[in-house]
Amino acid sequence: MSELSVNHLLGIKELSAQDIHLIFETASQFKEVINRPIKKVPSLRDITVANLFFENSTRTRLSFELAEKRLSADIINFSAASSSVKKGETLIDTVNNILSMKVDMVVMRHPNPGAAKFLSLNVNSTIINAGDGAHEHPTQALLDAFSIVSKHGDLKGKKVLIVGDILHSRVALSNILCLLKLGAEVKLCGPATLMPKYITKLGVTVSHNLKESLEWCDIANMLRVQHERQDLKYFPSIREYTKQFGLTLPMLDSLKKEITIMHPGPINRGVEISSEVADSDYSIILNQVENGVAIRMAVLYLLASKNKMNFKAD
Ligand code: CP
Repeated sequence: MSELSVNHLLGIKELSAQDIHLIFETASQFKEVINRPIKKVPSLRDITVANLFFENSTRTRLSFELAEKRLSADIINFSAASSSVKKGETLIDTVNNILSMKVDMVVMRHPNPGAAKFLSLNVNSTIINAGDGAHEHPTQALLDAFSIVSKHGDLKGKKVLIVGDILHSRVALSNILCLLKLGAEVKLCGPATLMPKYITKLGVTVSHNLKESLEWCDIANMLRVQHERQDLKYFPSIREYTKQFGLTLPMLDSLKKEITIMHPGPINRGVEISSEVADSDYSIILNQVENGVAIRMAVLYLLASKNKMNFKAD
């Protein structure tokens, strides 16, 4: 298969396992490119990408921007805080105004679940979801799974633990869908109050015991507590959370095997993960960030190809 089955990247839900493998194969080639002295290819020359961020971001925004530059695309960046959205302009009006400036693709982060799909149904452009509320963050899940494959090989049969605030996490949902599609076993660990009620219907298991879960897994992905999406108190105090679900170096050293530690960022050092673990040889956190650029290059390139945008550059 040399073509994606989708015209937009809205979520992992819409991708097949073949789509994901194609993205990984393409990302491997782009990873070689970005490690060369000349890190650019002309694949998206004459294509213009708008990066629309209605919510804060460091990694995803910079990673998409770098991926677009490495592919020789033209870029415009939009941040809601300094835009006419503040004057009451609707999402569709904002995007249609941007598209009338001859923009070919839209990368969008938005606080509302479903915003990327809504846009794909209402404007005439290729849409890439860079995170929509507590729903999906597909490129994060792709780069996470790609980072596991880069270190461990095939994901089939690998035991992946996701720890923390599952209830408010778009990273958790996209990771669960992606890992299961690729044949991994997935366990979730965290406070019962931060675990969605029907999550086991997706095919995952749930534990509330971090030590036991770590003994089970090959890879542990530690998530941040999403305070910005919590209007209630879900646990007694941060100290209490860290005592039960915070990952420390003595805990890892006491296991009978070596496991790989991941984190999507931003990290709350000393809360869900200690500094010693984040900076240790167990951690592949910065490899995840590096792989993010190659994954986003692959997604941009494959969607442009699917939608015949870069026909002239090939
Ligand atoms: N992992 C992630 O989405 O980070 P940002 O919020 O900084 O983009």
